[in-house]
Amino acid sequence: MSATGSAPNDRAQHGKYVRIYEVGPRDGLQNETQPISTQQKLEFLGLLAAAGVREIEATSFVSPKAIPQLADADSLMRALPRVPGVRYPVLVPNMRGMEHAEAAGADAIAVFTAASDAFTQRNIGITIEESLATFEPVLQRAGSLGWWQRGYVSTAFGCPYTGRVQPDRAVEVGLRLLELGVDEVCFGDTIGVAVPGQVAELTELAIEAGTQRARMAYHFHDTRGTALANVVAGLQGGVRCFDSATGGTGGCPYAPGAAGNLATEDLVYLLDGLGYEHGVRLEAVLEAARFVARTLGRPLATKVGQAGGWDPKTGAPTGRA
Ligand code: HMG
Ligand code: MG
Repeated sequence: MSATGSAPNDRAQHGKYVRIYEVGPRDGLQNETQPISTQQKLEFLGLLAAAGVREIEATSFVSPKAIPQLADADSLMRALPRVPGVRYPVLVPNMRGMEHAEAAGADAIAVFTAASDAFTQRNIGITIEESLATFEPVLQRAGSLGWWQRGYVSTAFGCPYTGRVQPDRAVEVGLRLLELGVDEVCFGDTIGVAVPGQVAELTELAIEAGTQRARMAYHFHDTRGTALANVVAGLQGGVRCFDSATGGTGGCPYAPGAAGNLATEDLVYLLDGLGYEHGVRLEAVLEAARFVARTLGRPLATKVGQAGGWDPKTGAPTGRA
């Protein structure tokens, strides 16, 4: 296991600490067609760090033809002021991406495959098996540099091209990623079809198969409004890392129908109410969410973004604009 880009992994193993892994600057923006400047992205990243977010997926070193919005990955990573204690992973699909990420000063990566060949073929042009072979030298290189490494298993619950995915298939791919040396496996509900019972089943199967809870994360798209319920199922299963995007943005061009990610403000509100520690301030996340909405020229459509927070002790509204 690797070490740099240090974030609160160890603390997450305590029952009441949850890691919030922000994907807004990457997943949140990757599917946006309007121009967003590198400066605006840097401002967003700054607001997130100021809100106490300690893991922020910053961008992707992928083909600019596949994801034009993140074509500035190189200049963004070179310009990004690193806040101490914040990890900034970047998506890397192959050795070429790894070389660019390294040259641009990254120190944490996420490789990404799926539980369905049809999706990986469209997303990265190769099968699952080929993707694992592609990642091997990437993860070796990242490991030799001491970088933190995550592996995504997309379409863990359902594939936009082939439908229902069996949970044992997702678990199997997750185990292969762990064998390749990733620090953490993240199961993605790419098209937002999962319900809590399926999350409980996947968690149980993964643990039975030998995956440690502390090395598991979930990434829920809120396409059908089940993301928060799925987080609760994950928490009940002992998982303590969840992905979310401030402002509820997101989607993948190769996952038709995939709506936004679970919104960070909604996740923070839930975790606060349940008494989990996470280090993120709701008011400041809402500020970042409003910044994203202004940048995209859209109203902020997330639940807590619209209603604001609510102090459970006093009943006073919090975090309003
Ligand atoms: P390809 O066309 O199949 O293969 O792309 P290629 O090797 O022939 O490359 C095509 C072109 O890309 C060539 O350039 C390469 O040099 C270049 P050309 O000769 O045409 O000018 N290229 C690259 N350029 C920059 N960086 C690189 C790189 N590699 C090759 N690293 C490839 C294969 C993987 C590159 C492409 O399919 C790709 O970039 N895909 C990215 C797809 C993507 O980013 N999807 C969204 C992220 S996944 C997601 O959102 C799901 C997740 O959120 C979890 C969930 O929700 O479940 C993580
Ligand atoms: Mg996603």
